Amino acid sequence: MACKEFLTFHNGQKMPILGIGTWQAPENEVEEALNLALEAGYRHIDCAPVYLNEKVIGRVLKSWISSGKVKREDLFITTKLPPPGNRPSCVERFLRKSLTDLQLDYVDLYLIHCPFGVPENPDGGDFLKEENGDIIVDLETDHVATWKVLEEMVSKGLTKSIGVSNFNKKQVQRLIDNSTIKPANLQIELHLYLQQNELVDFCKANGVTVVAYAPLGSKGIGALLKMCNIDRELPDLLINPDVVEIGKSHNKTAAQVLLRWITQRGISAIPKSTNPDRLRQNLNIFDFKLTDEQMQKMSSLDAGIRVCDFEFFKGMEKHPEMPFKNKHCQ
Ligand SMILES: NC(=O)c1ccc[n+]([C@@H]2O[C@H](COP(=O)([O-])OP(=O)(O)OC[C@H]3O[C@@H](n4cnc5c(N)ncnc54)[C@H](OP(=O)(O)O)[C@@H]3O)[C@@H](O)[C@H]2O)c1
Repeated sequence: MACKEFLTFHNGQKMPILGIGTWQAPENEVEEALNLALEAGYRHIDCAPVYLNEKVIGRVLKSWISSGKVKREDLFITTKLPPPGNRPSCVERFLRKSLTDLQLDYVDLYLIHCPFGVPENPDGGDFLKEENGDIIVDLETDHVATWKVLEEMVSKGLTKSIGVSNFNKKQVQRLIDNSTIKPANLQIELHLYLQQNELVDFCKANGVTVVAYAPLGSKGIGALLKMCNIDRELPDLLINPDVVEIGKSHNKTAAQVLLRWITQRGISAIPKSTNPDRLRQNLNIFDFKLTDEQMQKMSSLDAGIRVCDFEFFKGMEKHPEMPFKNKHCQ
């Protein structure tokens, strides 16, 4: 049941349209889940050092590649430059650390994780904080300067392609205008209730592919908000009656309909699951097609609800590159 649909980057590189997310996949679960995911046919894996599980993921990748069960070139691995690395002088060191942990010579896609930067914590731990608990921000974040070093990482063969995540339209445009290698990909929150039409159209017009994170609405963010004492009700996309009804007509679950709707829009999706049945279910979306009426019905359900607005990064709103200052995300 491998993913047979791909998005093609401006440089010709192909990315499987359905991948697996690894955020909030704790070390003790991710090893088994990733083995099951690779058995099921997943070849696109979304990683990041801030998910604190790249070493375990690296062990699984190493065992699959060295046993010959999968060829390196058949995998598509993404990882990201975290906010403490968002400075030109940090990029290569952070990328090499991820490569060491992932036990790879190169990644397929390297993304700047967030448009804001923070100073590096010398202990390598959590983001540094002011006395009042606010995160200390790095006011000198300069995307163009950081991007130049990402371009060098392509020349050095440490990544095949480069892109960004959580950038708004203005921030992506600035990189397009000031780059030798333009961004191949933008990874953003995108789901039924945050459809991002304007940003997606902009990306398509500029040859930038889009990856949808939180494609099922990210229940995991609920746990994070609770930990930060943020009292906010999150919508449950999986019980939307229209989605459930559409699923019944195809003998599919609501999750499968939500993922099929994204990929049918020409957007990649990276649902996270460490549950064997659900991770197989999420990949099993290529044997049915939503009708035009069903696509339109789902498009009419946009609610402009952003679940990952970085409110949990208290103090980050002071950063000049905070991306979500208005609902059009510009
Ligand atoms: N660039 C960024 O800033 C950023 C931010 C957030 C996320 N991401 C990436 O995007 C990935 C996906 O986003 P996400 O993890 O926040 O949210 P998500 O994929 O929308 O939702 C994951 C949640 O849904 C559950 N789930 C998965 N499949 C299901 C199914 N078929 N039926 C019912 N529940 C299901 C999972 O639980 P089980 O595991 O128990 O199945 C988990 O609680 C992340 O893992 C990460 O790789 C990137």
